[in-house]
Amino acid sequence: MLRKGLLELRCPFRRKISTSTTTNIAANSDRSAITGKALESDDPLSIYIHWPYCEFKCHFCNFNKYLNPPLSSPSNEDQLAKSLLTELQTLLRWFPTKRRVTSVYFGGGTPSLASPHTVGLVLDAISKWCNLEPDAEISLESNPTTAEIDKMQGFREAGINRYSLGVQTLDDEVLTRMGRRHTGKEGLEAILRARKLFERGVTFDMMFGFQDQTAEQWRMQLEVGRNHVSIYQLSLEYGTPLYRDYKAGRYRVPDEDAQADMYDAALEVTASHGLHHYEVSSYASSPDSESWHNMSYWFGQDFIGIGPGAHGRFTIREPNRWIEQCKKLGHG
Ligand SMILES: C[S@@+](CC[C@H](N)C(=O)[O-])C[C@H]1O[C@@H](n2cnc3c(N)ncnc32)[C@H](O)[C@@H]1O
Ligand code: SF4
Repeated sequence: MLRKGLLELRCPFRRKISTSTTTNIAANSDRSAITGKALESDDPLSIYIHWPYCEFKCHFCNFNKYLNPPLSSPSNEDQLAKSLLTELQTLLRWFPTKRRVTSVYFGGGTPSLASPHTVGLVLDAISKWCNLEPDAEISLESNPTTAEIDKMQGFREAGINRYSLGVQTLDDEVLTRMGRRHTGKEGLEAILRARKLFERGVTFDMMFGFQDQTAEQWRMQLEVGRNHVSIYQLSLEYGTPLYRDYKAGRYRVPDEDAQADMYDAALEVTASHGLHHYEVSSYASSPDSESWHNMSYWFGQDFIGIGPGAHGRFTIREPNRWIEQCKKLGHG
């Protein structure tokens, strides 16, 4: 059961849904049964864009990422951008009419390595080929390195209105040990700078569960949380350098009780700053600060994913159209 009050206040997926408190999936099935195809074009669509490159590979990370091509060539970026647009256009052909887009998310990898120009090209295409809502949430993930901090203004001008920073920790030793190339100070600077630029808010990722970390140290690191924060317990992912170090006894993690204390500390500190825990890893200062894009996944809404390794989910609910598609394409 989803919480009624919060979700009905502002979530785009609730706009046309009655006051049902059951999940949106159920609500949507009812609506399709009544009105069919028209609703499919009016239902919100989210778009995820995967930028597959990173400047460095963090020791804990098993995301689909590749080192930035050595000659970090404009031509490579150009080709990736062209392919993103081609894939977007191909996927959008699936829909009979222009879809209403309520959120766009540039994730990675590290999409802040892309140029603002490329980000602008993708957003222009989305505006042209879809009905991009005037109040759509348009997010981009970024590392807090100085070079990327300098690009923030450009991203804003390209149309980004919500910024997500991978701060992870403010502890420089841990950042170095994890293979990251920014400092805690840069993390803080990036948050403060972004807060001045992005009107839909700024979020940042923080992680706990590093070797020798204590709940007290962790608590202090979270003090900077305001609009939105995502908090992850370090997970030892098979195949990563950190996993190998852990298996070989070169890396330890705090025991379960210590990690539980860190989780409790996260709940306390975020609550003391007025942030509510609205999703597994996410905390927001108000319903308006919650990530629409994130919630679109949880609500079972349609989304398309473009870029290497990206995936999407779109469904045809109206039976006759589904049958037509099966005849034409072999699936619905
Ligand atoms: C795609 S990255 C965010 C953007 C950017 N690449 C960065 O690292 O700053 C997604 C987030 O997942 C989290 N993450 C990645 N690997 C993790 C792991 N093994 N355990 C816990 N969190 C992890 C990190 O907080 C990271 O910021
Ligand atoms: S955590 Fe972010 S920067 Fe680090 S390797 Fe993964 S995607 Fe790249």
